[in-house]
Amino acid sequence: MIFQNVVWTLVLVGMGLVAVGFIYVVAQAGKPADEVATRKSTHTAHVLQAWLFAVLLVGFVAGSWATLHRFPIPPQHAELGAPQVVEVVGRQWSWQITPDTVQAGSTVEFRVTSADVNHGFAIYAPDGRIVAQTQAMPGFTNKLLYAFRQPGTYTVQCLEYCGLAHAPMRTTIQVVAPGGK
Ligand code: CUA
Repeated sequence: MIFQNVVWTLVLVGMGLVAVGFIYVVAQAGKPADEVATRKSTHTAHVLQAWLFAVLLVGFVAGSWATLHRFPIPPQHAELGAPQVVEVVGRQWSWQITPDTVQAGSTVEFRVTSADVNHGFAIYAPDGRIVAQTQAMPGFTNKLLYAFRQPGTYTVQCLEYCGLAHAPMRTTIQVVAPGGK
């Protein structure tokens, strides 16, 4: 099942539950209050609330840890020691990438900066999927680590609007098999 359909099904079920709860409340509205029953149901509601909060909290912490414990941005002021280093300068409206050929299978450190305004440095795989990106900012060098898995011609596309020729501000990076050049 496609992820989008799973989400849609869950949303529908959730909406259905809300509707059932609403109908129940409307159906109960005319009945006279029973003090003992009211106190009991208030207590039950508080207990359920506390459990729901605990479950949501645990889910949130676990979900955050699972998705974020490997922080995707490398330390920007440390020596990264990657086996391949590529210097990237963005300018209106071209990319200067040195060298523009790298090997698959080992990590590449991209040192990305800009000679004028902000640009977005984004690498697209041959199948059109975006595989890595960072900002190209004047006065800063942003480090990006990426290990290409497949050789091929990758496209670099500017992702930050930077003036008239922003859209065609693109070039290519050649990724060759490990050991090749
Ligand atoms: Cu450079 Cu948009």
